[in-house]
Amino acid sequence: MRRILVTSALPYANGDIHIGHLVEYIQTDIWVRFQNLVGNRCVYVCADDTHGTAVMISAGKAGVSESKFIAEMQRAHERDFAAFDIKFDNYGSTNSRENRALCERFWKSIRAAGLVRERDVEQLYDPEAKTFLPDRFVRGTCPKCGSVDEPGDNCSKCGHHYSPSELIHPRSTLSGATPVLRNAPHLFIELEQLHDFLDEWTQSGKHLQPEIANYLKGHFLGEPLRDWDISRPAPYFGFEIPDSPGNYWYVWFDAPIGYIASTHQWCERNGEKLDDWWRSEDCEIHHFIGKDITYFHTLFWPGMLKTAGFTLPTQVHIHGFLTVDGEKMSKSKGTFVAAKTYLKHLDPTYLRYFYASKLSSRVEDLDLAVDEFVAKVNTDLVNKVVNLASRTAKFVEATGLSATYPDDGGLFADAAQLGDEIREAYDATDYSRAVRLIVGLADRANPYVEERKPWELRKDPKKARELQDVCTVALNLFRQIVVYLSPVLPRLAEQAGELLNDPIKLWNQSQKPLVGTKVNKFTHMLRRVEEKDVHAMIEESKPAGSPAAEAASPGAESIGAGAQWNDSGDALAAEPLVPECTIEDFAKVDLRVARVIAAEDVPEAKKLLKLTLSLGGGTTKNVFAGIKESYEPEQLVGRLVVCVANLAPRKMKFGVSEGMVTAAGPPGKDTKEVFIVTVAEGAVPGHRVH
Ligand code: MSP
Ligand code: ZN
Repeated sequence: MRRILVTSALPYANGDIHIGHLVEYIQTDIWVRFQNLVGNRCVYVCADDTHGTAVMISAGKAGVSESKFIAEMQRAHERDFAAFDIKFDNYGSTNSRENRALCERFWKSIRAAGLVRERDVEQLYDPEAKTFLPDRFVRGTCPKCGSVDEPGDNCSKCGHHYSPSELIHPRSTLSGATPVLRNAPHLFIELEQLHDFLDEWTQSGKHLQPEIANYLKGHFLGEPLRDWDISRPAPYFGFEIPDSPGNYWYVWFDAPIGYIASTHQWCERNGEKLDDWWRSEDCEIHHFIGKDITYFHTLFWPGMLKTAGFTLPTQVHIHGFLTVDGEKMSKSKGTFVAAKTYLKHLDPTYLRYFYASKLSSRVEDLDLAVDEFVAKVNTDLVNKVVNLASRTAKFVEATGLSATYPDDGGLFADAAQLGDEIREAYDATDYSRAVRLIVGLADRANPYVEERKPWELRKDPKKARELQDVCTVALNLFRQIVVYLSPVLPRLAEQAGELLNDPIKLWNQSQKPLVGTKVNKFTHMLRRVEEKDVHAMIEESKPAGSPAAEAASPGAESIGAGAQWNDSGDALAAEPLVPECTIEDFAKVDLRVARVIAAEDVPEAKKLLKLTLSLGGGTTKNVFAGIKESYEPEQLVGRLVVCVANLAPRKMKFGVSEGMVTAAGPPGKDTKEVFIVTVAEGAVPGHRVH
């Protein structure tokens, strides 16, 4: 039996839970339920993340105290989570007594380790709102790539991290005022002192997904780590630093410590010792987070834990972001759906199932395409799974299940054998694979029912025994599938347990058929989704009275939503393969991953854009690319491309081109339609393409 402590990121207390958040909480809840189902001891804690300027300002606007504001918000969050069957063992708050005590303990260790330095900081200050501005409240132009309207901490286009005062043309999102620089002393943690440790921990191959380890190596660990500014001057809603009056811990200092504080509360209630969970070799710690907060959980947090002598995370599981119909969630399009709005229109079971069917262990964005959502739920869940029971249960209400399990041609035994593979998929957070395997079982079970036709058997009293046997098989196959799906669909598991008078509690129940039990009256289990309900939910999520004015995000790719595999071979016929080459010939071409760090129009040229490519390690190249008719310069900045890096420079009318960007397209040089070649997540500039 493994002992496992699991956390999800602590949601900010300044907004409602929405369907984007739910990707994470559903992902985590499934994992926790799975672990408990297979007999491990798994505890799931979370909390509201309450501190910081955002909450201070929201409370001010609402005209209530911060503590009243966060208490209301916490009630709403807990209600939403419960409605989606997300079951925490403890749900705390970072504004708790336990958290303050733990922060002080961490602080002492970090001071004692000589990691803290005081330095004056010029911080942006909003002269209208009379407060220093946190990173997220400043927007402006990225100093590295020039992308406009980027947040104050890192660039959504090129991924560069900076401090808000480095932004070009900054403005306060609170008042719109241009912030001014003000001096104040701040406390810093010198993370660089932990560089060797972090290198080893992040690159060990054990704790992080490979694409995350590469990302950290490429973006942070290749150079000295920056000092981390962990204090904020008053006014600030948070904990005052004991040995630095007038200064408060920055919210990201006390937030992750909140994981431990929440565990502490759980321990107190259950007679457990905190040290057994956070300072013990034989307890695993698993964090689930979104990719936007990678940096905090894979560099700062391990550094803090190490210094204070707590257990390091066994694994940090990082997921991508939710898109809806292929685009970023958007308020004006109504795709920024609050959990409570969803609940007014749709059954939470649908969303749990849909997310499970899409989630893998990779850091990929996940798309909710409305038609796919409807099709998956109706075809897989209602037609294939629930139907197994709804078509057969009523015929055995009077007799119950057969006393011995009939010959089913090996269906149950084969499906039992597949259990190990399904189990591995869940454990590796590869839920889409688990779901695919399980739905495959339903695909084998349904033809059995169709061939044996219980609805005909029941017309002939001489076939009563056969009818009972056929229904016993169908209901057992149903139950087996439901056991496998129970981490995803706890409600369906409960209903199946009631129907067959045998509650579903353990994975092993999938390995042995159930016989001789009473069968209760079949009551309705799951309704089909109606597409109109999904549209009504989206309508209700649109801001009242405002037209959908927000432009589609320019970076949205055409892959994803609704993409179909209807490739035709015509392109190949029109442009046959060129004569064979050897591997040595190919190796002469040095293809490298590069990031587009700037892109501009060449007004005098019909087809050319001028691109600046970064190949990593400070090497850049200027390239003129004939892609103007297919791409806007803004669409390219920040993207990874594949370039021919050793192409002889070529002097052109507008300057020297030092390489070539690869792109696909139909035959002929005259084409308007080109598609640049990109590379999967995880690759970094400078990687060679072999
Ligand atoms: N308060 C911090 C976390 C502190 S953890 C010590 C925070 N809060 S959040 O409310 O903004 O986000 C909570 C979690 O939800 C994060 O892991 C975040 O990545 C995830 N998501 C928020 N929006 C999301 C999507 N649109 N899609 C998928 N996950 C999303 O960050
Ligand atoms: Zn940028």
